[in-house]
Amino acid sequence: MCGITARVGGGDALEELLTGLTNLEYRGYDSAGIALRNGSGLSVHKHEGKIARLESQVREVRPAGEIGIGHTRWSTHGAPTDANAHPHTDCTGSIAVVHNGIIENYDELKADLIDRGHEFESETDTEVIPHLLEEEVAAGHSMQDAFRRVTAQLDGSYAIAAVSAETDAVYATRRGSPLILGLGETTQYLASDVPAFLEFTDQVIYLEDGDVVTLTRDDYEITDTDGYPVTREVRTIDWMPEDAEKGRYDHFMRKEISEQPTSLAQTIEGRIVEESGGEGSARRVCLDEFPPGAFADVSEIQFVACGTSYHAALYGQAMLARRGIGSQTFRAGEYAMLPAPVDEDTLVIGVTQSGETADTLESLRRASEGGAQTLALTNVVGSTAARECDDAMFIRAGPEIGVAATKTFSSQVASLALLAERLCEDRTGESSPYQGELLSGLSALPGLVECVLDDGRANDVIDRYRGMDSYFFIGRGIAHPVALEGALKFKEITYEHAEGFAAGGLKHGPLALVTPRTPVFAVFTGRYTDKMLSNVEEVQARGAPVIGIVSEDNSRVIETVDDAITIPDCHPDIAGLLANVQLQLVAYHVADYLDRPIDKPRNLAKSVTVE
Ligand code: F6R
Repeated sequence: MCGITARVGGGDALEELLTGLTNLEYRGYDSAGIALRNGSGLSVHKHEGKIARLESQVREVRPAGEIGIGHTRWSTHGAPTDANAHPHTDCTGSIAVVHNGIIENYDELKADLIDRGHEFESETDTEVIPHLLEEEVAAGHSMQDAFRRVTAQLDGSYAIAAVSAETDAVYATRRGSPLILGLGETTQYLASDVPAFLEFTDQVIYLEDGDVVTLTRDDYEITDTDGYPVTREVRTIDWMPEDAEKGRYDHFMRKEISEQPTSLAQTIEGRIVEESGGEGSARRVCLDEFPPGAFADVSEIQFVACGTSYHAALYGQAMLARRGIGSQTFRAGEYAMLPAPVDEDTLVIGVTQSGETADTLESLRRASEGGAQTLALTNVVGSTAARECDDAMFIRAGPEIGVAATKTFSSQVASLALLAERLCEDRTGESSPYQGELLSGLSALPGLVECVLDDGRANDVIDRYRGMDSYFFIGRGIAHPVALEGALKFKEITYEHAEGFAAGGLKHGPLALVTPRTPVFAVFTGRYTDKMLSNVEEVQARGAPVIGIVSEDNSRVIETVDDAITIPDCHPDIAGLLANVQLQLVAYHVADYLDRPIDKPRNLAKSVTVE
């Protein structure tokens, strides 16, 4: 949802800015631009379209400058055009600004600026910022003070970076949108996400809302909105630069699907321990991030999440239900409008890969205001969700660049399975045979995913079902969120129509859509097989071909369905994760065959920082 970057330091800024933008392109790819400061003022280049377009243009001109800002856009106000692309400048062209977020009061600010004689070139909300800065500087304020004075006038959510032809610095602030400093020896960086500068430094500061930064070649200064200095912790990032590169894969999505054995191993590492006792050894869940008994008094559990993370939360809800613990899962966009009642014994878990999704953050804030305990289940240490919630549990999947979430879904579900066991233990004071079996299953998961990845069935089978009208996905129990996720992945990267349904719900409406041209993917986990087979027969009776995602040992299902994509035999409550990997591969192969821009599906962005 727009990516911003900035760089101040020795040598030419151009290449490092382009690297930064390329690594942020997953956040938006409607248009891109840069502004560089050099001896003759500001050099601004911006274009509608992908970063490659901007790159080929600026590589010809090679604008010089050691200080620069850059932007990759996911349009909110105004269509993707050259004029609406960032950076935006003031009337004199000596101040340039990039922005991620929405300025909610921009129309009033713009009307006042127009009355005072300012002329605008774009339809964006952002363009008011350089014009306001121009006025403050003209009134005699330093650029640093002007920046603070202007941000005080803005309502909404934003991460902003500005550069002036007159000063040797970049000025930046955030409220509601992420912004991270990267600290080098003689060069300082700033970006919406770490991959933008990971190649250049692993020393970072996650800025807080209201922080105002002045970045110079060998220093940085952080103040609050009133100009008082604030200190923020410098952290070392343990991601490797190659984690944010495609390597031998054609797409980040394919790389991230293949990384699941490793990412899952990271998720569970040290969290499942083997203890020996009187009756041999037993596996126990060990989540050191929570003190003993942390969840003993929790009487109600609510999940808030969006998209794929919402499906992971539904899976978590099913895992809790298996242990006799009730919970509710809410789409964060709705919860933020109409929160469920909470009290101090309610635990609200925000499931969010990025930790920056605006709807999820707003839901967590509403829950916290109501007195609930909040927990962020996230991939990003230092993200807003991790910082704002009472507690955080990290899924440790490593950076995910492809817009379609893959490895983070698996790691979210594995984390939720562990959390469900811990909640159960804290509430009942004991572990159970189920826990031992589930934890054995989870320990085996990385190896089992490896087997799924080695199996080429998804590609072979899907060849037979190209060009159909719609693709349906059905499941029961934990297979229901897997069906929803299978359909989401399929539609978002193939642009083909796909829907996921609870298998038992077909006869209450969706069956009317079923024809011989609507293949149905039926997810079997080893539970409810008879009922699932009845649903399979219902759709087969209407002529729809059925592709079963099913254990390789389940010959009964394999013989009934029209085609089978098999998974290794495993614990039924983690079989859904293996089925999901097969469905990720199905979506990927279809999208690849259709030559879709898999890592950057149209109209979508990785991190949705507006409500
Ligand atoms: C789909 C996808 C999105 C995200 C959703 C929430 O493949 O990635 O549906 O799951 O935007 O994002 P996070 O998890 O960052 O809150």
